[in-house]
Order: sequence, then structure tokens, then C-alpha cells
Amino acid sequence: FSTSTMAQSAISRITVIGGGQMGSGIAQVAATHKHEVTLVDVSQEALDRGKSYMAKSLKRVAKKKFAEDETAQSQFVDEIMGRVSLSTKPQEAVSRADLVIEAIVENIKVKQDLFAQLSKAAPQHTILASNTSSLPIGKIAELLDEQRKQRFIGLHFFNPVPQMKLVEVVRTKEVDQDVVDSAVAWVKAIGKAPAVCKDTPGFIVNRLLLPYMMESIRLLERDVASAQDIDTAMKLGAGYPMGPFELCDYVGLDTIKFIVDGWHKDGEGLKGNPLFSSSRKLDELVKQGRLGVKSGKGFYDY
Ligand code: NAI
Repeated sequence: FSTSTMAQSAISRITVIGGGQMGSGIAQVAATHKHEVTLVDVSQEALDRGKSYMAKSLKRVAKKKFAEDETAQSQFVDEIMGRVSLSTKPQEAVSRADLVIEAIVENIKVKQDLFAQLSKAAPQHTILASNTSSLPIGKIAELLDEQRKQRFIGLHFFNPVPQMKLVEVVRTKEVDQDVVDSAVAWVKAIGKAPAVCKDTPGFIVNRLLLPYMMESIRLLERDVASAQDIDTAMKLGAGYPMGPFELCDYVGLDTIKFIVDGWHKDGEGLKGNPLFSSSRKLDELVKQGRLGVKSGKGFYDY
């Protein structure tokens, strides 16, 4: 990180809306790279949880960075956490923001309403961004006026945010090129690697991963091989760090079902595509509450 990269991105004050898993990760990374961050949530408990999650994660980084020096470790954590403020008032929190990143619940109506509210309070130069995984960026911006749409973009981070290097920068039909350029520069300024793509279902990574996961589940349904053997095959034969079933369990089976069902029903260009038709096995596991790592059971037991 250098000050010249920060000047290039021309973004220094960030507001992150949604203090859950993704929002707190994004806030942590931005604050680590010298940005002033306000983290917003409807729930004070979520904010407190997000804050302690960030502090814990930073402590782990500090321990590695300053192995024997406890004073340096706590200075490192305190300095970064000092750049993060918490708020339950979204309009107030965006009133000085250069960039707003939304990471709230994956619901189109809730996101549209939030941005309609924010557009009344954010300065005209503010870039508005969504971290959605599965909703069209253009649709989230639908209620906004033309000027706001030109400064609206997708910034899709990956979980866990502090570890995952990639950010997909998603361009809508309306977005200005200088907004894309600023977003790309900012992504680099926070130590991540941008990949620019059009506003299409799944962007790049999930558009390719979901069919792979669904085909893996179908292989299992047809009893071609066990989950363990399919995982071993893809790790050792294709060089993937995780097998498809380990990955499904990590992402969450309910999340996978939610995304493929949505695309199959009305995804742009994907409606009715058999790659995303439902799977008996996946439906059953979700029904039984076997959602993956987070519920202690999925394709595997944890
Ligand atoms: P989460 O459930 O951990 O956090 C969502 C937070 O948003 C909660 O703390 C909730 O209180 C808050 N919230 C809900 N409505 C709000 C509102 N109107 N205003 C302010 N705060 C509100 O969810 P998570 O996993 O962090 O996901 C958030 C977004 O990020 C979703 O759009 C999701 O698609 C996307 N995403 C998730 C990934 C993942 O692996 N979990 C990966 C990439 C993107």
C-alpha cells in the first residue's frame, strides 16, 4: 500500500452497510489500508459482534506480524480499530462517504429501499456499490435517478474477506467509465485483485462454480462415486484446493439452493437452463437442516 495508490483511487471515506460476515470483513480490510470506515447495521448486537470479529481477526494478523512484541501487537490492532466507527443510522453514516458498500440481507426489495434512502443523503460524488452474490446490480439500482445509476457498481468480495484476494467489479449498462476506474483503483489500494465483468448472473466465479457444484451433486445422485472419492479426484486430479463437496459445505447448501433456484426461475439468460435445475439430494439435505459447516452437518459431519 502506498499513498499514491490511495490518491489514485480518490476514495478515502468508506461506509459499509451490513455488519455481518461480509460487511465486517470489508470494513476490516479497508481500515487496515488506512481508510476511515463507518460500519452500519440495523442491529447494535450485529455491530458489536462485527467489531469483536474484526478485532479477533486483526489480533491473529498482529501475532504473526509482531511475533514476540505484545505492545506492537496491540498498537497495530488499536490503530486499525481506531479508524472504524459504528452506526445504526445509515443516512447520517453516508453523508460524507466517498464509497458506500452494501452487504445486507440478500433481498432485492430491502436492498432497493435501502439505496433509495441512501441516495437522499449521500453526496453526489459518492460511489454506491453492492456486494450481492446473486442479484442483478442494475435491478438493485432500479429506483435511483440516472445520475446515481451512473455511479452505481457491483463490488463482489469473497468469504473470508481478509484472506480472499479477489473482488469482482461489476459494471452495469449505465455506469460511468470513471466510476469503474475508481473502483478498480480502490480495490488495488486495499490490497485486492480486481476482475471486471458485466452485470450477468453469477458474474464470473459463481457462474462457473455453481454448474460445477450441481454437476458434482448429480454425479453423487447417480452413484458414480462417493463424495469423498469425488473430492479426492478433483483435489489430486484437477489441483483444486478443496473438493466440490467440501466447497458446497463451506458455502452453505441453503445458499447454493437459493442461488440455483433463483437463476432457474428467472435468471437473465439462464431461465430453465438444466444446469441449474433442482437436485433431489440437495433439496433433501436442506430440508433436513444439513446446511454444511455452519450447521455442523452437510455432505460431511463436522
Ligand atoms: P449476514 O447475514 O452475515 O449479515 C447481514 C447483516 O445485514 C446482518 O447483520 C443484518 O442485521 C444486516 N442488515 C439486514 N438488513 C439491513 C438493513 N436494511 N440495513 C442495515 N443492515 C441490515 O450476511 P453476509 O453473509 O454478510 O451477506 C451479506 C451480503 O453479502 C449478501 O448480499 C450476500 O449475498 C453477499 N455475499 C455473501 C457472501 C458469503 O459468502 N456469505 C459472499 C459474497 C457476497
